[in-house]
Amino acid sequence: MGVSPIRRRIAFINEKGGSCKTTLASNVGDYLSRVKGQRVLLVDLDPQGQLGKVLGVDVGALRKTALDMLLDVVMGEDAPPTLPVVKARHPRLDLIPANKSLALFPQEVAAHGGEEYFCLREAVEPSTDYDFILFDAPPSFGTITLNVLLAATEVLLPVPLTYLALDGAAELTRTVEMVRSRFGHPALQISLVVPTFARRTRMAAEILEKLRQHFPKQIAQTVLGYSVLIDQAQSCSKTIFEYAPRSVAARWMTAVAEELLARDPARLSG
Ligand SMILES: Nc1ncnc2c1ncn2[C@@H]1O[C@H](COP(=O)(O)OP(=O)(O)OP(=O)(O)O)[C@@H](O)[C@H]1O
Ligand SMILES: [Mg+2]
Repeated sequence: MGVSPIRRRIAFINEKGGSCKTTLASNVGDYLSRVKGQRVLLVDLDPQGQLGKVLGVDVGALRKTALDMLLDVVMGEDAPPTLPVVKARHPRLDLIPANKSLALFPQEVAAHGGEEYFCLREAVEPSTDYDFILFDAPPSFGTITLNVLLAATEVLLPVPLTYLALDGAAELTRTVEMVRSRFGHPALQISLVVPTFARRTRMAAEILEKLRQHFPKQIAQTVLGYSVLIDQAQSCSKTIFEYAPRSVAARWMTAVAEELLARDPARLSG
């Protein structure tokens, strides 16, 4: 029978660069749409534009991007705004791509005489076309990251098993707490903490243990190791399910997506 009409907005976020945000967003999005029949919108909020790039979109050549969607809301152009969606890999998988232009978002708002900088939620909320909206955040803290946290109700936090990344995870927890209290968004919660880039070293094991202590409820069972297939798939603009569906890397991505499905806040509280 049909898919339950859940609608979840999840931020893939870690202020630390190279923590596996884009890789997880693209592959989990592909799995949820391809295998689970969910209608998924991926939204790239990183000026690096890598979510589009790994899905084969020429992000430099686009007429409309995430920046236009945000500015439409700022300028009150459309109500509800038209989303600059492109199709990605699969009929149920849509993408709003970004490119370098997004880095100038605050300046663009000012140049257009706008005063509202937090408009992502307003841009995506009216859409009833999706079961999941997955936001790929940039590796820094600023206006864009705050927009992502205000538009999402859940966070998926990927954490490389290194000492500095552990510090970054604690930082993100404080940021989420600040958004809940100071920015009036108490519904925001960390749903899943995913250990990434695991190695068989004592240091990695200790960091994983610390993560488990820090996030006893949110820590994922799945731990992502290293696989060159992930890099290779991205170099061919393919997801791991297209490139190497029987690989261990595909099993990792499947397991993370299934854990995310199992942690549906609506189902858990119901
Ligand atoms: N499990 C893995 N094994 C090997 N390489 C990986 C794995 N996961 C991701 N990578 C590679 O690591 C790099 C960083 O991953 P990714 O771009 O997903 O991180 P990110 O958090 O989105 O980075 P940024 O902060 O720059 O946006 C990429 O080149 C990707 O191909
Ligand atoms: Mg990224």
